[in-house]
Amino acid sequence: MQRLAKNWQRQRVRVGFVPTMGYLHAGHLSLVRRARRIVGAKGKVVVSIYVNPTQFGPKEDLSRYPRDFARDRKLCREAGVDVIFAPVDREMYPAGEGEEFSTYVVEESLSRGMEGAARPTHFRGVTTVVAKLFNLVLPEVAVFGAKDFQQAAIIRRMVRDLNFPVKIVVAPTHRERDGLAMSSRNKYLSPVEREQATVLSEALALAKKSVRRGAVSSVRLKADLARFVTNRPAARLDYVELFDPRTLQPVSKVGRGTQMALAVFFGKTRLIDNETL
Ligand code: PAF
Repeated sequence: MQRLAKNWQRQRVRVGFVPTMGYLHAGHLSLVRRARRIVGAKGKVVVSIYVNPTQFGPKEDLSRYPRDFARDRKLCREAGVDVIFAPVDREMYPAGEGEEFSTYVVEESLSRGMEGAARPTHFRGVTTVVAKLFNLVLPEVAVFGAKDFQQAAIIRRMVRDLNFPVKIVVAPTHRERDGLAMSSRNKYLSPVEREQATVLSEALALAKKSVRRGAVSSVRLKADLARFVTNRPAARLDYVELFDPRTLQPVSKVGRGTQMALAVFFGKTRLIDNETL
């Protein structure tokens, strides 16, 4: 991959990159289209498909994470992707006596709350693998989805702090018709859970409505939202946060421009969503 990318660099070919863990859906394909629009018909669009083990906690869904490479390859072909980069674990994380992988990238400020608090080693795995992928694909631009708001903010920070010559573009969340944010993990939901999973986007809409009526106290709104979510029998709220989108610090007064994020369990499946209020 790196040899190919260096050749493109020498020929001044523009490269757009969409990192994924596979099991592609319409949301991923909208990121591919965005990358294509940026680099143009003469540019190259690379999609990586790699279920990165270092971003999963010991009790998370690494082994059952959905995988279907043949389907992903077909979707990539149809979407006009030039190259799929699909490494295996031993290439990304060499193991063996004296040769173990031992260098990690750690963002220390934006990764503390929300997903970072709920999944303590998650962002270390994300920043490490994204840094490695950037070094292998050498893209001019990389496109990420806004559904993972905190991830996008951390990657922007990493790119700035470590001087990666990569422009980060964050594309809007793609939603099902009933508002559920598209995610490879939606596949885990039972019919009843799938029906109740709209509670995430409904909670975001409820918060927006409250803010439209005027600024509200964060404590009050969070309590209302917690009640709203747990009214669905299949839903268990992990967190709901109201914060400044730049610093990711919690706010006490919620107004227009405040960012809201929430994580909700349905059985073992954990879904996230966020919006600017
Ligand atoms: O958002 C994802 O799918 C993953 O976190 C990423 C960015 C591909 C890194 O493994």
